[in-house]
Amino acid sequence: MRDRITRFDVSSASLGQLGLAPMEGVTDFAFRLWMSILGPPQFSWTPFLRFTDTFPRSIPEYFIPELESPGVLTQMPVIPQLMGPNVDDFVRAADLVLKIAPWVDINCGCPSPTVVGNRSGSSLLEKVEVFSEFIHKSSLHLGPQRLSVKMRTGFIHSNEFNSLFESICGLPLKFVTVHGRSRLDRYKGKSNWTLPMLASKRTSMPILISGDIHRFAHIQSIFADQSKIYSGIVGRGALRNPWIFSGKSKAPVLKALCVFGLIQNLWLSDPGLLLLWAKDGHGMKTAGVDSESWIRVIESLNKFSGVSVAEIAEVDLSPRALARVKMLWSYIRSSLPGVFMDPSILRSSRWSVFYSHIQNICQLNHFSEDELPLLYDEERDWLYSGESREAFNLHQSI
Ligand SMILES: Cc1cc2nc3c(=O)[nH]c(=O)nc-3n(C[C@H](O)[C@H](O)[C@H](O)COP(=O)(O)O)c2cc1C
Repeated sequence: MRDRITRFDVSSASLGQLGLAPMEGVTDFAFRLWMSILGPPQFSWTPFLRFTDTFPRSIPEYFIPELESPGVLTQMPVIPQLMGPNVDDFVRAADLVLKIAPWVDINCGCPSPTVVGNRSGSSLLEKVEVFSEFIHKSSLHLGPQRLSVKMRTGFIHSNEFNSLFESICGLPLKFVTVHGRSRLDRYKGKSNWTLPMLASKRTSMPILISGDIHRFAHIQSIFADQSKIYSGIVGRGALRNPWIFSGKSKAPVLKALCVFGLIQNLWLSDPGLLLLWAKDGHGMKTAGVDSESWIRVIESLNKFSGVSVAEIAEVDLSPRALARVKMLWSYIRSSLPGVFMDPSILRSSRWSVFYSHIQNICQLNHFSEDELPLLYDEERDWLYSGESREAFNLHQSI
């Protein structure tokens, strides 16, 4: 693999079929590096970076080290995303990012009340004229193929989608990604794949689809349709099953989590050290489902983390690193047999307690911790919807 990609260069990469969606608080460099080791998606995103009239003055350190620091390698192209309310501030910030990235993405989808209150994210969709003017002005300033747009299907209702989309589809954008829900929907109901699929037949603009792609069969069904959907991106589905991109059905989940914890520990305390490890080419080495290769990853990290393989059960992860491991576990457990849903695991106050909890469950239930089965259970979708089970089921049936 290292021979194939000698230097990370997003401009030489074309979009593949399945990418990792941008997720604020999740898909930072440390996460992307871990995904890259695990079996990478074909491309990924940074979480949004907010721009204001004064920020950023330069590309923030560690925003996209894959592009900024020569020699920092992961196996996937990364798309930088910006978010904010004002088009002049956007193009100024985009110009900075475009010094090192071939194109930049604008977030027109974030539904959070704070973001909307600030007239950013999905708020740009509230009026077609505002959206259209923002994207037209930016596209004209940045030039052809230098801008991509990530949007929801509307602000209040998905029936706003066609006029929103048509107002920008003649522009020379790199692509448009559509999360098939309106801002008001948040994560309710099902992501509407039909609207972007139909739109893709009416335009030559590449369209990517987002929302509720939880397993490989979902994307296959999208491509089997006669639509010209270019690609799909996976957000929560990749947290629930980080092996979704390689389609594996078993994985050494505990060892992979351990590497995740060590990477987070370094990232949150001394990101420069993590970059040094990454510069050594470690984002280019896939471990995937082979337990031995995860041990080799832990060994190679040892020089930086100070943790040997023998010590992994007892590592003193910082509270912030442990919180991130638990966040990931709160998703991954939904892809494991029901016994792993045990809520006490998430209450562990230390990594060693967390680790031994999972080990005990493996032993009691005769699972090999190196080969935990990964499955997709639709019944657990509601857990990640922000709704109660009853409300979720009600919205699904509408
Ligand atoms: C925790 C979290 C953070 C997110 N952050 C971003 C973001 O920074 N930028 C963005 O465009 N979308 C963001 N999204 C939306 C996702 O990219 C995606 O469009 C949405 O979750 C639907 O896809 P899914 O069903 O595969 O999760 C975020 C979603 C989640 C769950």
